[in-house]
Amino acid sequence: MTFESDALIVGAGLAGLRAAVELAGRGDVAVVSKVYPTRSHSGAAQGGIAAALGNEEPDSWEWHMYDTVKGGDYLTDQDAAEVLARDAPRAVYELEHMGVPFDRTPSGTIAQRAFGGHTREFGAAAIKRACHAADHTGRVILDTLHSEALRHGIRFFSEFHVVDLILQHGRCEGLVALELATGELHVLRSRATLLATGGFGKVYKTTSNCFANTGDGAYLAYRAGVPLQDMEFVQFHPTGICGLGILISEAARGEGGILRNRNGERFMERYAPTIKDLAPRDVVSRAILTEVREGRGIDGRDFVHLDLTHLGKDALAAKLFDITSFAMTYLGIDASVDPIPVQPTCHYMMGGLPTDADGRVLGADGKPMPGLYAAGECACVSVHGANRLGCNSLLDLVVFGRRAGRTMGEELPALPRPAAEPDAAAPVRGRLAELRRRPGGERVGALRSHLQQVMMESCSVFRTEGSLSRALGEIEGLEVRRDEVSLADPGSRWNADLLEVLEFDSLLALAKAIVVSALARTESRGAHFREDFPERDDAAWLKHTQVRLAEGEIEVSYKPVTVTRFTPKPRVY
Ligand code: FUM
Repeated sequence: MTFESDALIVGAGLAGLRAAVELAGRGDVAVVSKVYPTRSHSGAAQGGIAAALGNEEPDSWEWHMYDTVKGGDYLTDQDAAEVLARDAPRAVYELEHMGVPFDRTPSGTIAQRAFGGHTREFGAAAIKRACHAADHTGRVILDTLHSEALRHGIRFFSEFHVVDLILQHGRCEGLVALELATGELHVLRSRATLLATGGFGKVYKTTSNCFANTGDGAYLAYRAGVPLQDMEFVQFHPTGICGLGILISEAARGEGGILRNRNGERFMERYAPTIKDLAPRDVVSRAILTEVREGRGIDGRDFVHLDLTHLGKDALAAKLFDITSFAMTYLGIDASVDPIPVQPTCHYMMGGLPTDADGRVLGADGKPMPGLYAAGECACVSVHGANRLGCNSLLDLVVFGRRAGRTMGEELPALPRPAAEPDAAAPVRGRLAELRRRPGGERVGALRSHLQQVMMESCSVFRTEGSLSRALGEIEGLEVRRDEVSLADPGSRWNADLLEVLEFDSLLALAKAIVVSALARTESRGAHFREDFPERDDAAWLKHTQVRLAEGEIEVSYKPVTVTRFTPKPRVY
């Protein structure tokens, strides 16, 4: 099939859907998604969406902006953080008016809870800023935006995996997609294409991310020469279920949950005396692993306890229903009686495709690439700097998804209709045929597990030059083995084996970009902690990293951080 539209959106999570709704009525709009839209990973977001509504206590967008900048360890571009914090109340009320069933205060306004790193009066104490629907906030926003998109007549190509971007005539003119149900390749042409494909937590063994989070959009653009920015900043959420990585929302600590070591000690009092368990995620993850390293993990093992027992059965059922069900389902633990064993889990990528605040992807020359846009976790605006605060992600998706959709709509009239070119799917068709012809060789599952293990051991919460160099060597070995991979399933319909081979290309390239960026940054900042360079070094490193592929080699360069209101200071919580 060859399909033509004015605007294509890749990814049906919150960023993609919000952009689609914004574009409705401005041309033919289609959304292409690897999974059925309501299975997008945004639906797994639990704790809330941040906005200084001031419904529970006085709040201001300036405090929110400050927390975002400080939480990001001053790598945050402050003009972008200002857009985020100022626009947050409007964005939340807009969702409310679309029908999102937020929890309520006794007086009927949107209820808010405390979340890591969100404070009042520029760091004085924790504040209730996260608007929520129990602990399934992402689910209800995703369902609402999906309904809105359907109501506006947006067309969906569900379970289509994008395998190539059509970058020609100096602009993006659409994409090539594999229809998973049939194995057919389709060419989808458009004047404007938005990448909203989410993160790539599946680079790591232990992650809160779903199986689909393999970074396809970021990878396809990177492969075509677009830079990736700030890839070394990988967020580990402190409370994944031990051994599984499934998220136990920070909302648990927002509602009063406490982290304890083997002695029953509330150890966060030592690491963040002012906001304790509600310190930002990089601080809490390092604290947990320091407790473990110093022998204070539970039974001397590699996890600590999240204690919710004092919150009471009724509060847990009303406010933390999903996570207490997870504890019961996966561990057989009744969280009102026993603590939950937790350890850090890879949760979020601060890095991605560099964009301006209106969703335009910026090329290696820093200029917008005509016809190509990005929003959400695959983009780097950069609003989260070196460490994102909880509840700023859902906000980022709807604020910058809307702005990207608006920009695309405004720019559509000036973007030419893509020319009918010879078969744009030919290169991909050739690669798939070659894969099918290969005799028995490596299996992709084994290679992927090896990569995930290496990244977990050598490039997670703590890093050194030695561990990163080891990771790089292993990745280079995997690049050679990747070329020996063959398919166990030669078929066309629902070929999960083929999908995993294509996804592995993405995981491997993105893992290498993370490691190379991390090796180059010889300081510690936010989620990037170099044990051999434990201090933040603003004189040398207050700058964004960019990596790009040039003739198969990775080129590293740097870009200044935008500082407007808040001068970088040591981060104390
Ligand atoms: O802990 C959580 O509920 C996660 C929220 C987020 O990543 O924003």
